[in-house]
Amino acid sequence: MIRKKQKENQKCVLGLATGSSPIAVYEELVRMHREEGLSFENVITFNLDEYYGLEKTHKESYYYFMHHHLFNHVNIPAENVNIPSGTVALEELEQWCDDYERKIEAAGGLDFQLLGIGRTGHIGFNEPGSAIDSKTRVVSLAHITKEDAADDFEGIENVPATAVTMGIGTVRSAKRIVLLAWGAKKSKIVKEAIEEEISSNVPATYLRQHPNTTFVFDEEAASKLSSHHLENQDLYEPCD
Ligand code: F6R
Repeated sequence: MIRKKQKENQKCVLGLATGSSPIAVYEELVRMHREEGLSFENVITFNLDEYYGLEKTHKESYYYFMHHHLFNHVNIPAENVNIPSGTVALEELEQWCDDYERKIEAAGGLDFQLLGIGRTGHIGFNEPGSAIDSKTRVVSLAHITKEDAADDFEGIENVPATAVTMGIGTVRSAKRIVLLAWGAKKSKIVKEAIEEEISSNVPATYLRQHPNTTFVFDEEAASKLSSHHLENQDLYEPCD
């Protein structure tokens, strides 16, 4: 998509995720940049979320993560990188979130959104209860989400209680969405995301109503899916 847009002299607008799931994607993009000359000059990125209260320099901030895994290693112009702020003053936050939405629109909208899935079924930090049309806003993190981050923060008491996240509506505005889930610990929520009734109880179910979403699982993450969901080998071909 980056190359195609480049040929057409267009910007490529990418929505990006942090966490363990997309790390291999970023490694591959860095490899393609180094070895195949893939240029990021025409790329504009918008990250999904950021912990509220963390400085950019904090090792667990998503700002730090993205620079460490991707932005420091490719030729993306610094002004093309957008990551929700973890430090904007509380009284300015609502305006800040509206501006983030407007900036995405002004860039032409998200061409592509990369996602992981949390054990609560969250996408971005849209925890259960998030509305299908929600926009960028400040949210409280679910207990399970804080538990999953506890090791990184050396204790659950150090995990921020809130975060700034794109909404489900923001994510669903992307023209193309790919959700990644790896490993047995995602198998339960993967089954729910694919097989449960579409509702805010499992926010990822809302992706099933998006016309151009692909779910990519390894065998362990897909292991609890009912067999009829695995029948179509074209769709569910195991991938390396
Ligand atoms: C990260 C994000 C989260 C993660 C999810 C899965 O920006 O928005 O929704 O994608 O919590 O995290 P990992 O990939 O670490 O299992």
